[in-house]
Amino acid sequence: MEGMGLMSKETVIVLDFGGQHSQNIARKVRGLKVYCEILPYHASIERIQGKNPIGIIFARGATNEPKEIAEDSAEGFEWEVPVLELNEAHLEDQILKNFLYDICGCTGEWTMANYAKESVSALKEQMKYKKVLCALSGGVDSSVAAVMVHKAVGNNLTCIFVDHGLLRKDEGDQVEATFKEQFQMNIIRVNAQERFLNRLKGITDPETKRKIIGEEFIRVFEEEAKKIGEVDYLVQGTIYPDVVESGVGAALVKSHHNVGGLPDHVDFKEIVEPLRELFKDEVRELGEELGIPRELVWRQPFPGPGLAIRVIGDITEEKLHILREADAVFRDEIAKAGLNQEIWQYFAVLTGMRSVGVKADERTYDYTIALRAVTSIDAMTADWARIPHDVLNTISSRIVNDVEHVNRVVYDITSKPPSTIEWE
Ligand code: XMP
Repeated sequence: MEGMGLMSKETVIVLDFGGQHSQNIARKVRGLKVYCEILPYHASIERIQGKNPIGIIFARGATNEPKEIAEDSAEGFEWEVPVLELNEAHLEDQILKNFLYDICGCTGEWTMANYAKESVSALKEQMKYKKVLCALSGGVDSSVAAVMVHKAVGNNLTCIFVDHGLLRKDEGDQVEATFKEQFQMNIIRVNAQERFLNRLKGITDPETKRKIIGEEFIRVFEEEAKKIGEVDYLVQGTIYPDVVESGVGAALVKSHHNVGGLPDHVDFKEIVEPLRELFKDEVRELGEELGIPRELVWRQPFPGPGLAIRVIGDITEEKLHILREADAVFRDEIAKAGLNQEIWQYFAVLTGMRSVGVKADERTYDYTIALRAVTSIDAMTADWARIPHDVLNTISSRIVNDVEHVNRVVYDITSKPPSTIEWE
């Protein structure tokens, strides 16, 4: 399915010749208030023309091998609209601005305020009087998608929030309260912690954990959906980077079984993906437009399998409790130090390791908590965050004093690559 193209009067096409470069360009074009879409370099001329573009950008990565030029490719074609070739070295903002505004004649009408208004009314038109179902995880994407659809169909939307018991401290209650009380949405919360813990008992392999959680999530969701019966639409929080067909494939390091994968046995007629045209930062902006609380909209990334991949080795209720408490201290101190906006992601990990310590003159043999904090742009690469030593000191003291069964705190100083952001 191609994008809804709500603002498609003024569309620029970015042709992707491989790598992340095309997405960087597209984000910059959108930042300059011009709508653009990414297509692969081998897209047919008809497909490109079908978008009615007012300009085309060839996005070449610095190391891309020249592609073979087919006679009927976009490269060999005489376009009637302006064409710009941009390789990575040429992305300073002025070139793009001149191209868009002076050469293509763009007027800059792509704003989130416009988008919110137009897409809610388009959804209203599309889904009037229809029954809609959404899997709400409390993450940014599913939250913004759900609120958007709720603005369009009101109580005809039912959200199922599967609480797998792997969320951070108080998070489940916060999600429920926000959507029930602030937005008066129809939310069914399924407390499935025991079920997930049972399935995860004794499992130590990270990929197996992910697989089990992904499968179990779908199963719980299907069971709840069955009680509701047939619906017309199922909401998915797919965002633009998931949709883009990139010229180059990346190797799988970790499978990302996101909460909200497609269930097989839910009775729906169509999928609706209200965010499929938006980059992550645009989704956040849209969330703010729609009045979703800032702390939810600007929430740091949180993996679908949750704390299960931050307890190294097998998972127990006790370990989850220790991790939740330590993580809450870490987050609290980072917020107090005013660092929560500049660090991309920060969290505690319960390492499987125990070591000797001493507390009130008694020998202890307890867990080691690792603190992980990284700066990044897109999670593909990351550097460890230079948190001031006095802040680290406060965090460490609070954790070992306040969290039972922890007697040691270490700080992870590796970048990605060669490490990954999560420990599992
Ligand atoms: P890694 O650990 O691969 O993480 O460097 C990159 C980003 O992806 C997140 N992540 C996940 N997200 N399901 C998710 O939804 C997963 O299984 C998963 N594993 C990692 C991680 O938090 C980071 O933001």
